Amino acid sequence: MGVRAAARLAGLFTLLAQAPNMKILVTGGAGFIGSHLALALARGAEVVALDNLRRRGSELALPRLRAGGVAFVHGDVRAGEDLEAVGPVDLLIECSAEPSVHAGYGGSPGYLVNSNLVGLINCLDYLRRFGGDLVFLSTSRVYPIAPLRALPLGRRGDRLALPPEAAGPGWSGSGIAEAFPMQGSRSLYGATKLAAELLIEEYRALYGLRAVINRCGVVAGPWQMGKVDQGFIALWLARHVFGGRLSYSGFGGEGVQVRDVLHVADLCDLVAAQIEALAPHDGQVSNVGGGAAQSLSLLELTAACRALTGMRLPMGSDPETRPADIPYYVSDCTALFQRTQWRPRRGLDHILADTHRWLVDERSWLEPIMGGGRASIA
Ligand SMILES: NC(=O)c1ccc[n+]([C@@H]2O[C@H](COP(=O)([O-])OP(=O)(O)OC[C@H]3O[C@@H](n4cnc5c(N)ncnc54)[C@H](O)[C@@H]3O)[C@@H](O)[C@H]2O)c1
Repeated sequence: MGVRAAARLAGLFTLLAQAPNMKILVTGGAGFIGSHLALALARGAEVVALDNLRRRGSELALPRLRAGGVAFVHGDVRAGEDLEAVGPVDLLIECSAEPSVHAGYGGSPGYLVNSNLVGLINCLDYLRRFGGDLVFLSTSRVYPIAPLRALPLGRRGDRLALPPEAAGPGWSGSGIAEAFPMQGSRSLYGATKLAAELLIEEYRALYGLRAVINRCGVVAGPWQMGKVDQGFIALWLARHVFGGRLSYSGFGGEGVQVRDVLHVADLCDLVAAQIEALAPHDGQVSNVGGGAAQSLSLLELTAACRALTGMRLPMGSDPETRPADIPYYVSDCTALFQRTQWRPRRGLDHILADTHRWLVDERSWLEPIMGGGRASIA
């Protein structure tokens, strides 16, 4: 780890020094977010990463975890006995998932539901029996699709944008807030996460579980195994570094859809602050993202990738909009900002530069996984 990265984590080490015997289980701990959290926390606590290595590329995290002092368990959250075998912990951070919003469309929803929902129930019951707090990574996709598509978006330059000063229930120029209307379909992925949130609330009420829920927008950074249906920032950069094809998909195929992006290290900082003093965060459900200042469209992402890599890929266009596609999501984190000192500190340039450097440095591992092929993203 570089000096800068170590300095960034200094606050985290300070807090973990206060609880040096803490034992933390990170489910999905070989995944993108899980491995970053596990490695950060292992500098001051005993950390176990449990993962079934379903996501291609997650196996690349194993040497990193070992070198960082994280114990690895090849296990599955769908099997309660795999969790039991870890024994009691002080905290479980649930980062395992089938994380694609397109999962289950045109195929069986079996794995998605079993992993995201039954797996979460197994985590809850494990905590009920053994004790321990929970940090749950939920998603912005709990907000329903139709109301997001109905936002009064118009094209402004290379992106869709809301009219200046416009606002409605749970939305404004700052983005989508927790008060956004919840009626309507939200994708099977979003439904498993919302159902998980409801169950967490019941375990809090019935069994005194302490839990924090973070509804993350797009999270990006090094070690994200970007693929067509999840992790588009890493995928876009990987295609520009390794070659291959990219295509704008959905909403006319113009590449104007917008997301906000958060650096994974900023998410680690937030989780560290939540762990440091869980009581004031217990029961909170927060939007977590980079916000309007860190939002971009696919057209803007392509321009940034061209500038970083010097590579100019021909961009395809696929106008068809898939059932779970949304044209715009920006996290309004006002409620979280009012409750905490946490703010995203690493902007878009930082996120793209860190991810680009990783792709170049680790090319020999990553090119077989993330290179080539045709990719289209909505
Ligand atoms: N990355 C994002 O932009 C983003 C945004 C919103 C929410 N989230 C949520 O954050 C969490 C982590 O996402 P990520 O980006 O790190 O995804 P990821 O796919 O990189 O990591 C998930 C890990 O879970 C593992 N896994 C899958 N099924 C499992 C099972 N049944 N048992 C044990 N392990 C299993 C996978 O092998 C993978 O290593 C997920 O819950 C995801 O829904 C991520």
